[in-house]
Amino acid sequence: MNIVETRNLSVVYKGGVRALDGLDLNVREGEIFCLVGPNGAGKTTTMRVLTTLLRPTGGWARVAGYDVVKEAGKVRKMIGYVPQNLSADDELTGMENMILQCRLYGIRGREARERSLRLLELVGLREAADRLVASYSGGMRRRLELAMGLVHTPRILFLDEPTLGLDVHSRVMIWEHIRRLNHEEKTTILFTTHYMDEADKISDRVAIIDHGKIVAMGRPEDLKSSIGGDVIKLKINGRINGILSGIDEIIKVDEIDGEYRVKVKNGEEALPRILRILEERGIKVVYASLVKPTLDQVFVEYTGREYREEEEHVDVRVMTYVRERKR
Ligand SMILES: Nc1ncnc2c1ncn2[C@@H]1O[C@H](COP(=O)(O)OP(=O)(O)O)[C@@H](O)[C@H]1O
Ligand SMILES: [Mg+2]
Repeated sequence: MNIVETRNLSVVYKGGVRALDGLDLNVREGEIFCLVGPNGAGKTTTMRVLTTLLRPTGGWARVAGYDVVKEAGKVRKMIGYVPQNLSADDELTGMENMILQCRLYGIRGREARERSLRLLELVGLREAADRLVASYSGGMRRRLELAMGLVHTPRILFLDEPTLGLDVHSRVMIWEHIRRLNHEEKTTILFTTHYMDEADKISDRVAIIDHGKIVAMGRPEDLKSSIGGDVIKLKINGRINGILSGIDEIIKVDEIDGEYRVKVKNGEEALPRILRILEERGIKVVYASLVKPTLDQVFVEYTGREYREEEEHVDVRVMTYVRERKR
C-alpha cells in the first residue's frame, strides 16, 4: 500500500519561486524512503506539504490515505515530523523534552514517563536522559529529536536532513537508529538528505529530486544498474572526436565540465585500451580514473550535471594540502 502518494504536486512561493514543479512520488508502507537532491531542490518544501504545514498551489498529496489539504487534521494524527532546524529545548533535560512532547499529544503521567524512557533507550540516550540538552552533542540532539517525533507512535516519520552537519560517527549512529525504528516500531520512514552515499546506504528506495521534480525513483541497486556499466573519467590535452570509436566496449562518451566520461561495460579492461589508443595518437592524458556506478552518477545521467555537495569542497582542499606537503 502507498502510505504517501503525490500527483503533479506544485508549490510556487510568493515572489514566484517554483519550488515544486509537478512532483510525483509514492512511498510504500513499511519502507525507508529517501528524498535526495542538491540544496534548493525542494526537499524541505515537499516535507512541509506532506506534513500539512504548507498548502500546495497545484496537484494533490495523500498521506495514510488522507488528503493533506482537505483532511489535514487526520494526516497530523498519523505522522511524526522532525524538521531540519533543531527543535529540542536546550534548557530542559532530554527526559523533560520528551514529557513535554508527550503532553502535546495528550499523553500524561506514568504512560508518558514509560514511553519516553523506552524511546530514549531506543535512540541510545537512556543514560543521558536527565542531562540538560545544552550539554548534548549535535548527534545526541538529533537522536533526541528522532525520539520526540515518535511519542504518539506515528505510522510514518518524516525526517528532514537528520544528519545535516553531523560528523561521520554521529551520522552512522543516526542511520542505525533509523533502521531500528523502522524495524522494531514498524514505522515507515521518509527522510531527506543531500548526501547521495547516505541515500544509497540506508534506503529501501530513493527518489532523486532536482528543481522540484523527481528525476529518478527506485531501489538504489536498480537505479545504479539502470545507468549500466562503469565510467572512465578522462582529462586530456586535445579532443576525443571519434578516436575511441574502434572500441566496441564503449557505450557512450559525454563531456561534462571539460572532462570526458566514457561509459564502458567493463572499466578494468577498457581503461588500458583507451590509454593505449590515446597514447598512439599522441594525446597527453592529464588524468584518468575508473568509477564504479554510484547514485551521484545516476544524478549526472538523469540531469546532465555534476552532483556537488558541500563536503566535496572540503575534500578538494584536503587533497591540495596533501599534495603540497608531498612536494
Ligand atoms: N519561504 C520561502 N519563500 C520563497 N522561496 C522559498 C521559501 N522556502 C524555500 N524557497 C525556495 O524554494 C526552493 C526549494 O527550497 P527547499 O524546499 O528549502 O529546498 P531543499 O530543502 O531541497 O534545500 C529554493 O529555491 C528556495 O530558495
Ligand atoms: Mg531543506
